[in-house]
Amino acid sequence: MTHSTGPDATIHDIPNFEALLDPYPGYSALAATGPVLLLRSHRGVEYYGIFDAKLAREALRDQRFSKSSAAMKRALDRQGLDGASAGFPISSMKGGNLLNTDPPDHTRLRKLVNMTFSPRRIELLRQQVETLVVGLIDAMRQKSELDLVADYTYPIALTMICDILGVPRQDRDQFRHLATQAMTPGAPDQAECRTQLIAYLTALVAAKREASDPAVAPDDQPDVLSALCAARIASDALTEDELISMSFLMLVAGHETTVGLIGNALILLDRYPDQRRLLIEDESLLRQAIEEVLRFDGPVHQTTMRATLESVEIGGVTIPEGYFVRVFLAHCNRDPGIYEDPDRFDITRKPVPNLAFGHGPHLCLGSHLARLEAQVAIKRFLEAFPTYTLTGGAEAIKWAGTVIRAAAVIPADAGAA
Ligand code: HEM
Repeated sequence: MTHSTGPDATIHDIPNFEALLDPYPGYSALAATGPVLLLRSHRGVEYYGIFDAKLAREALRDQRFSKSSAAMKRALDRQGLDGASAGFPISSMKGGNLLNTDPPDHTRLRKLVNMTFSPRRIELLRQQVETLVVGLIDAMRQKSELDLVADYTYPIALTMICDILGVPRQDRDQFRHLATQAMTPGAPDQAECRTQLIAYLTALVAAKREASDPAVAPDDQPDVLSALCAARIASDALTEDELISMSFLMLVAGHETTVGLIGNALILLDRYPDQRRLLIEDESLLRQAIEEVLRFDGPVHQTTMRATLESVEIGGVTIPEGYFVRVFLAHCNRDPGIYEDPDRFDITRKPVPNLAFGHGPHLCLGSHLARLEAQVAIKRFLEAFPTYTLTGGAEAIKWAGTVIRAAAVIPADAGAA
């Protein structure tokens, strides 16, 4: 039966799920009332949430759910909100990027970076990740108390994305604060940090342009930002605002997410010692163990927002034009129609595709990079510290509280050598 929703529909008030120790019962309770629901976030933003995996795939391919900044602005205006304070730092960027455009602009911008993040090109970075990880492990061996985020997950993710983009290593550390705050809706210095990060990237891009050799083709440039500068000079393939906006997106999307994936894997392998044992005994389970972490508790629980360009009927609900919509990926990844006993963490599970990296044209650009980093990080960590424990258990973990499901502090003991 189709029932119309909109201003008169029941609104479900929801908490900041990413900051909860276990948000899954909350998702299930909501989903039990329907596959498509009108929600109000803890920041007062109203949107429709999709809780069904099949409908999720449909919606993420449906062009009537727009990511364009114009459509997003209309939906914000309808609620009397502005983008930055409502928690949309990426979609409210001045220039176009992958997450605030629809085709054909999205297709044009994505083509410029697709090759760098392809499985073949990312595989070439394996040795670089290995060297980085081994160095961090050696440093951890000298310490009695560890914070697995500061000592391990954060430096891995940040170093790799900075190297790929061409951000000098000595500038990296200032990003932790700037990027985290810029992506924390409601943080008192969110706007200031976002402005500082954009100013830094603008200066960096200008320096790269200055240094760029016009005779070298974009694909042969040493890093992604140089390649984008070269593409801008050689063929006007993107505007200056797009260049800055794309850099901002790749930098912020490219590190805390992976911090979350590696951190969540270490937390789960502590919580489920039988699964840790299985993985230590049989290294061939590594790839599917990472897929199971992505399914069971991936770092991105909800997609970014879309806005309806017209009224759309989905899952028996009519979403009016000009409304926000997002998919609850984490709940969809526990759909009992797709995964047997979905609330069980089981690294021997036959791999079935999951939605952790999204779906459709906006499918994550960095999925191969994130998988590579996680595989190397977990393999080497278990070799070095097979009996590690989390000090203080689950309660001692501090969650970041950003839009990403990632821990900010994971106190740990390295265990017996
Ligand atoms: C485990 C780690 C990661 C997860 C779970 C993840 C998840 C996601 C998801 C769910 C989306 C789609 C968002 C939507 O449809 O609204 C996305 C898009 C994106 N991700 Fe990731 N991501 C991860 C790592 C990375 C890394 C390492 C990069 C580095 C470049 C990256 C860059 C991007 C970009 C640029 C987009 C936008 C793609 C587009 O719109 O075409 N991500 N990611």
